[in-house]
Amino acid sequence: MTARTQLASWQKLEQLAASAIPFDVNKAFNQDPSRFDKYHIELDNLLFDYSKNFINDEVLATLLNCARECRLEQARDSMFAGSTINKTENRAVLHTALRSKSTQPLMVEGHNVRLQVTQELAKIERFVERVHLGHHTGYSNKVITDIVSIGVGGSNLGPEMVCQALTRYALAKVNAHFVSNVDGEQISQVLATINPETTLFIVASKTFTTSETMTNANTAKQWLVNYFKSEGAVAKHFVAVSSNLDKVAEFGIASDHIFAMWDWVGGRFSMWSAIALPIALYIGFDHFKTLLEGGESIDQHFINAPLAQNIPVIMALLSFWHASFLGHQSQVILPYDQALARFPAYLQQAEMESNGKSVSTQGESLPYPTVAALWGEIGINGQHAFYQYLHQSNAIVPADFIGSIASHHSLDNHQQVLMANFFAQSQGLMTGVSQQAVEAQLADKGLSASQIQALAPHKVHQGNKPSNTILLDKLTPFSLGQLVALYEHKIFCQGVLLDIHSFDQWGVELGKVLAKNIEQQLNEQQVESNQDSSTRGLLSYYLAKQAQFSTNDSQLGELNSKNSTD
Ligand code: F6P
Repeated sequence: MTARTQLASWQKLEQLAASAIPFDVNKAFNQDPSRFDKYHIELDNLLFDYSKNFINDEVLATLLNCARECRLEQARDSMFAGSTINKTENRAVLHTALRSKSTQPLMVEGHNVRLQVTQELAKIERFVERVHLGHHTGYSNKVITDIVSIGVGGSNLGPEMVCQALTRYALAKVNAHFVSNVDGEQISQVLATINPETTLFIVASKTFTTSETMTNANTAKQWLVNYFKSEGAVAKHFVAVSSNLDKVAEFGIASDHIFAMWDWVGGRFSMWSAIALPIALYIGFDHFKTLLEGGESIDQHFINAPLAQNIPVIMALLSFWHASFLGHQSQVILPYDQALARFPAYLQQAEMESNGKSVSTQGESLPYPTVAALWGEIGINGQHAFYQYLHQSNAIVPADFIGSIASHHSLDNHQQVLMANFFAQSQGLMTGVSQQAVEAQLADKGLSASQIQALAPHKVHQGNKPSNTILLDKLTPFSLGQLVALYEHKIFCQGVLLDIHSFDQWGVELGKVLAKNIEQQLNEQQVESNQDSSTRGLLSYYLAKQAQFSTNDSQLGELNSKNSTD
């Protein structure tokens, strides 16, 4: 395979980055009144505007050529066909099959994936119905009112983000709680608010070995067994979503309460699988199906739209242009819809765990920056926090603004205030405020020449900051499915353009191995001498202080009991 940097289009992009940059977006708008018309794409119920980017027809055409030279369409077709594109783990990548209505057989390792998906969906639907109708009850025959989903990373972020985003669609059958952190504070707080007799725990772990998840699951199990004084309660109050059947059985979960995952579903792409059980229980199976339909509608768009009209392709090309050619090393996600509060966190895993890599598919060190660091926050809150940096720091942070035209509430004026800010911010980031304009404003206010000279530089906004805008008709299960699938395919395209493997995550493994070893040292209160002096020093300090605290605690305990008997 030709190295990416040898491609003619790549070399042209390098030249364009040197000659066309700095690009003046404001000038480009002045010169071309059709710029918005040219650089936006509409689907039935959403609009994607990318006109405020550092692109012109030549840059865009070269980016599209690059996509062709990288054989993006062929790579896309291989993914949908179930080829083993996750080469380092020897797996197919078929999260798209989870939301596909196609009945054409799709074989992976001798199994028809279509059949597996249909059967699992039917199982989810039956279970959700049984819980909602009160046919599946707790150990003391009480109806389930609360679900606690225990999982982390891809086994948590999707369900938590979706349940929060679609609260308006919740059926009011169960309350949904999520535990992802091994910090005992989180599970303690959840356990303090629920009733063991009416709670269902969902242990979501593809591997069923993730130490943080298993620590939380065991704590929940112990809490339940202590309450009922019987291990028998576990079968009624625990279900699992996993591909590791043996480990689930060992935990004590009944086989008909195990929902399957398969190797061809990556953790961070799994919110369409049984990992979505909390979603289906919370918003109902029909709404969950609509979410899948939204995802599938984008799959069809991704497969069928020409590259130049293909939203995820354009999104990927823009991020690729920004990060690998223009050197913008961070990008920000700014949803102006309260429902999307967890969306930036969700995308952080999806994109950075997929493409935060620095070797090619051939194992060679890549000579170009890959993906930018991704961060973000609900728009309005961000405005009063870090937008100062977006407007006036010397960094250029490409932004994705995401908003909805219709709200779910009917409060007067809120939506217009919110969306006025939404439109104003992308406008302001682009137009900025020139020195000349600042000086004129200050002169109008009656400031003296010397006052103007001193103050003006601080009020200048450079402008010319690029952004995309995604405008949804309304945040619904369907449009949320679309939004997530758009970014999933964007991430896939970035991986192809960058020539990296997007579907493994070896970088997360190192920490797990080291933590195991350190956990042992902490439990045994024995610091190994053959490790770096910083870690050794930190562990020794931690253990010494901890010992001191526990002595103090017992002294305090003695004092308290003395006081209470006094
Ligand atoms: O964070 C690393 C990771 O392996 C993710 O890819 C995955 O989503 C998460 O851990 C949880 O893994 P599991 O579902 O096996 O518990």
